Amino acid sequence: MLDKSAEIARYNPVWRAAEPYMRARKNDVHIPLSFAWAQRLLDEHPEADRDVCSLAILLHDIGWYTIDMEDIIEKGFSGPNMLQSDVRYLHESEGVRLAREVLTETGWDEGVIAQVCEIIDGHDTRPDPRHLNDRIVRDADKLWRFEVTGIAVASDWFKTTPHGYADRLEKQKDTLETEAGRRMANETLAETRRALMLHVI
Ligand SMILES: [Fe+2]
Ligand SMILES: [Fe+2]
Repeated sequence: MLDKSAEIARYNPVWRAAEPYMRARKNDVHIPLSFAWAQRLLDEHPEADRDVCSLAILLHDIGWYTIDMEDIIEKGFSGPNMLQSDVRYLHESEGVRLAREVLTETGWDEGVIAQVCEIIDGHDTRPDPRHLNDRIVRDADKLWRFEVTGIAVASDWFKTTPHGYADRLEKQKDTLETEAGRRMANETLAETRRALMLHVI
């Protein structure tokens, strides 16, 4: 059994190979934070596959790289059908393509690559997650938004205030997939509300 830091360091070559694709849509902030949430969820779910979940969260959004930033904000982050918009589907299929490239280049075997790509394909648009690995990645993808940093970034994306975005998260916190995820969302949102003085402003 590797110790924690050695275990996490195994993914460093993947971080480095994926880094050029993280310069879009604050992914260079979202991905490290969500990766950390995935590690916490995995600690509570030893039956999940750590490699598959860690690599899937690390690579799930790199497909945004190939999409125009104005299109992302106009079509992917507003309107009633934003979760089913074409750019959402496109960032998933482009993510699968780039993830396969990155994982092949960094020496992961086909069994792992196939499972990671299956999660990436549909991570935002699939109505129901398929299995525990999928559910963990989905929760990790959302949990960062409950942090101060997530609210700072996402309130700009969604053109609202921190208070407005925190209220939106209040409705989302109980819809996370895992019990651990729901608990973490609740606790983190309460801390963030205190930190941002949302009881006053
Ligand atoms: Fe995504
Ligand atoms: Fe994401």
